[in-house]
Amino acid sequence: MAGRLSGKRIFLTGAAQGIGLAIAEACLAEGARLFLVDRDGALLDKAVAGLAAPQGRVGRVVADISDSAAIAAAVSQANAEIGPINALINNAGVNVFSTPLEATEEEWNRNFDVNVKGAWNCSKAVLPGMIASGGGAILNIASTHSFTIIPHTFPYPVAKHALLGLTKSLALEYAAQGVRVNALAPGYVETQKAIDYWNSFPDPAAARTNTMALHPGGRIATAPEIALAAVFMISDECPFMNAATLVVDGGLNQLQHPV
Ligand SMILES: NC(=O)c1ccc[n+]([C@@H]2O[C@H](COP(=O)([O-])OP(=O)(O)OC[C@H]3O[C@@H](n4cnc5c(N)ncnc54)[C@H](O)[C@@H]3O)[C@@H](O)[C@H]2O)c1
Repeated sequence: MAGRLSGKRIFLTGAAQGIGLAIAEACLAEGARLFLVDRDGALLDKAVAGLAAPQGRVGRVVADISDSAAIAAAVSQANAEIGPINALINNAGVNVFSTPLEATEEEWNRNFDVNVKGAWNCSKAVLPGMIASGGGAILNIASTHSFTIIPHTFPYPVAKHALLGLTKSLALEYAAQGVRVNALAPGYVETQKAIDYWNSFPDPAAARTNTMALHPGGRIATAPEIALAAVFMISDECPFMNAATLVVDGGLNQLQHPV
């Protein structure tokens, strides 16, 4: 099938719901082959069943991205099932929200294991193949938490800041080998993760309304709107974009405060 991602064989993490699933749908529509990774098997089965995918264009595995051995095996499986991986989208992430004095060591480790080490594990597993074949593209799903702080969300923004460090480190290290590494930073996106966040407030409906009101356009993003940017960044339409971060937040990050 011809499309903007024709010839792309994408390893996509956190694909079972939310932004990851929207990216899977958009990439398939543009002709890519996909290998989907998620730690939630039941959710992943449901997601794959709902995808409009011709035979042989979608592979999958249930794996935790923080487990380097499982990810190395997953990349071998992906190479065998859909062909050599030439694109990686590090999308899987978890909210770990506390305060610097209340956060536990377990929370700190879980936050970094998934949100930073997971992206490094996947990058490490796909990079040798990309370098050997003359190039590839890696996209890290960062956040506006990658450069601004919301109190009481510690240590999540620490990890999302670090993800930009990983993006730039990999981008500069392998640019000469034809590998582009970039980050996409959404603001609020209407997914289960956002719903869980609102549900952590005494009045979830009011929390949701307050979030909407923070945005210049009076609303937050949908997952398909984030996927449109991901398709562009992983495609060959921006061949000299490297070590960059694209912010897709409806202008939230430039607003000093609502009127
Ligand atoms: N929703 C937002 O408002 C928002 C805003 C900015 C950035 N982001 C980022 O976008 C990405 C996706 O967020 P979302 O809102 O779609 O989240 P989500 O919670 O709706 O979906 C995340 C998916 O990742 C999977 N996952 C989590 N940890 C995993 C692990 N260790 N190994 C494998 N799979 C794992 C989950 O099972 C789930 O299917 C995350 O990196 C998140 O930080 C989200």
